[in-house]
Amino acid sequence: MTLEIIPAILVKERAELVRRIAAVSPYVKMVHIDVMDNKFVPNKTVGPESFFDLPKNVLYEFHWMVENPEDYISKIPGPHLHLVHVEAVKNWAAVEKAVAKAGGTLGIAFNPGTPLDQLLPVVEKAERVLAMTVVPGFDGQKYIADVEAKISKLRTLYPKLEIEVDGGIGPQTAIGAVQAGADKLAAASAIFAKQDIRKAIRDILDSVSCAGCPSYAECKG
Ligand code: DX5
Ligand code: ZN
Repeated sequence: MTLEIIPAILVKERAELVRRIAAVSPYVKMVHIDVMDNKFVPNKTVGPESFFDLPKNVLYEFHWMVENPEDYISKIPGPHLHLVHVEAVKNWAAVEKAVAKAGGTLGIAFNPGTPLDQLLPVVEKAERVLAMTVVPGFDGQKYIADVEAKISKLRTLYPKLEIEVDGGIGPQTAIGAVQAGADKLAAASAIFAKQDIRKAIRDILDSVSCAGCPSYAECKG
């Protein structure tokens, strides 16, 4: 599996969304757009009214931190990946129908405190699982390393599943997430709080490949 960095964008205005997409699109295949409704989480971001005519040179995954995600998904046609929270979905059939109608694919996110037993009955519906390593709501929070045990278990159960980690990812925390079995890393502040976006993405990738090197323990740099 190839490791992929997916810049996460958590903003309140379309102009800033478009600006951030333009800043990262030369360096990545996909962008992660955080969407919050002030109900499922105590924060509000841009919503479907801002998702028209997005640049077509990257793919999009929408991280739906909302109640009733099917109502939003149906408003965004296109080949997007829709990451819905297992804690938020009341009607899986309605979600699957909305995703199919929009021409997208389905992914499933779970919170740090959610037991795997809640995810496993539905995991096979998902093209990708998103393991939250912070309590969703805000960027810039501290990585919760305890989630790595669940990532390892998932990786053992599903060797080919796409497992993405979201929350507190930077060059240091990325190492543990990847060692646990993640193959996709979403990151907001470790990318957008830096002056040099290209280098910020590279630094995360380099840190992980360096940690995978057999002489990592003795290596000085
Ligand atoms: C948290 C969001 C994350 C967040 C990541 O609610 O789902 O995608 O933007 O931000 P960092 O990388 O700063 O933890
Ligand atoms: Zn997110």
